[in-house]
Amino acid sequence: MIQELFRRKSVTKASQEVVSDLADEHSRGSMTRALGVRDLTFMGIAAIVGAGIFSTIGAASFDGGPGIVLLFIFVSIACGFSAVCYAEFASMVPVSGSAYTYSYVAFGEIIAWIIGWDLLMEYAIGNIAVAISWSDYFTSLLNGFGLHIPDYLTMDYWTAKAMATPDAKAAWLTAPSLGNFKLICDLPAFIITVIITWIIYIGIKESKRSTNAMVILKMIIILLVIAAGIFYVEPANWHPFLPNGIGGVLKGTSAVFFAYIGFDAISTTAEECRNPQRDLPKAMFNSLIICTIVYILIALVLTGMTSYKNLNVGDPLAFVFNNMHSKWSNIIGGVVAISAVIATASVLLVFQLGQPRIWMSMSRDGLLPPIFSRIHPKYKTPSFSTILTGFVVGIPALFLNLKIVVDLTSVGTLFAFVLVCGGILRLQDLRKREQNDIPQSKFKTPYINSKWIIPVLFVITVVLFVNYYPGGFSGFLKFTDKTGVANWDVIRLKVPYILFAIVFVVTAVLSFLRNYSLIPVLGFLCCTYLLSESGTTNWERFLVWLVIGLVIYFLYGRKKSKLNTMK
Ligand code: ALA
Repeated sequence: MIQELFRRKSVTKASQEVVSDLADEHSRGSMTRALGVRDLTFMGIAAIVGAGIFSTIGAASFDGGPGIVLLFIFVSIACGFSAVCYAEFASMVPVSGSAYTYSYVAFGEIIAWIIGWDLLMEYAIGNIAVAISWSDYFTSLLNGFGLHIPDYLTMDYWTAKAMATPDAKAAWLTAPSLGNFKLICDLPAFIITVIITWIIYIGIKESKRSTNAMVILKMIIILLVIAAGIFYVEPANWHPFLPNGIGGVLKGTSAVFFAYIGFDAISTTAEECRNPQRDLPKAMFNSLIICTIVYILIALVLTGMTSYKNLNVGDPLAFVFNNMHSKWSNIIGGVVAISAVIATASVLLVFQLGQPRIWMSMSRDGLLPPIFSRIHPKYKTPSFSTILTGFVVGIPALFLNLKIVVDLTSVGTLFAFVLVCGGILRLQDLRKREQNDIPQSKFKTPYINSKWIIPVLFVITVVLFVNYYPGGFSGFLKFTDKTGVANWDVIRLKVPYILFAIVFVVTAVLSFLRNYSLIPVLGFLCCTYLLSESGTTNWERFLVWLVIGLVIYFLYGRKKSKLNTMK
């Protein structure tokens, strides 16, 4: 039984299956190889720069102050380590399934299924967040032109019910009722999802052209905004740099990580690349480096233009310009809003493209029904999966709340990153055991032995912790509230950190014993740490999600898996 759950797919087989052996006659066909390194870099930037930098960074800057820049740097380093691991896998297994396929090769079927299921969080749930954010900027842009969509058609029920802003109050008070239920939904979020789904459906070339155009436009506008913003920076706003300490900065972990998600999404287009093994790694690094530079500049400009205390808004970039009391402020504010609408639309496009391709790979492996891998005879895109993705994103986007979906997306994606970094270490082990189905990939993670480095890092972390955490170890292990009574909530909030500590110890020991490669180990540890900072409630929701996924696997995938039926 255990062996069956961890049956692995061979790398050679994974690559060969791309075109052949699709069970259903209608699904037979391959996709168009239209993407080069420039298109892929653009696609990476398209997927990265969006709702994160235009919306969620506002609250993160409010909590962390100017020191939020440090979080941007740390997260970019964590993503950089993960990108190296993604690149090695992408050049070894150039198949559309991304982390799902990589886990199938490295860990076996059950982990692959978990990752495939988990990637729904990154792509579909992530896109719900992006669609909601698109709607926010779009409606304020229309308002700028004097066009007003009724408020109750521009937000979710819970936001309206909380009545925390004038718009929400107006939505709640003017919404039509059906019995006791108020009809409130986010219509623009739904409509943009339908339009983007249609572009994806009609072909990869159309998607490529739309992406390239959107990226050029948004990058030009963003650079102009940074250049304009620099003139309004008042260095006094950068003091204090850490008004709420490191704790305040870390509150923004999900939001900042969300802003970086996307470089990995291009790996889902492996079967539409002209030379995936060479181009995918290059494009991932290019897009990550460009976006990191842009993000650090934006974070500095944003926190330099106004006090961090003013930044708890959903449209921080437009906000700082609208409030700078200059004759240009309204014009630049409007330009920012247009740029945000374009930027978030391009993120939507790439993620809407990625989700069906992951389902397609899972279906080819028998873990989902064959219809998921059906390729449209004319458009050469995974037709059923694309339309289903439209529904899975569009309908919840009508009703869900932005914060919940951003947090879930970040947790889901971090989990995938952890497994991809862990996957490279696992391959190192498998290669040592001379399992010949693991070929060397064209892009290889540079090997630095972590034997001493990780244990030393562990010791340094412990020393820093003991000296700087209030009360040291005994302070941390105190599970009582202010009245001295043991409190479940206090324990609950500390569980993720305890798990991280255990993972760190085990990794240090294994690095010492097995001479693991340093970059994947650092990627693994950084992403596990970011996971532990992502909030216990999000972990709990995520675990419920995984349990549902496992039930589906045992009811369907385990029996129908190609590795089972073709034994
Ligand atoms: N990184 C993407 C965004 O910020 C998900 O919209």
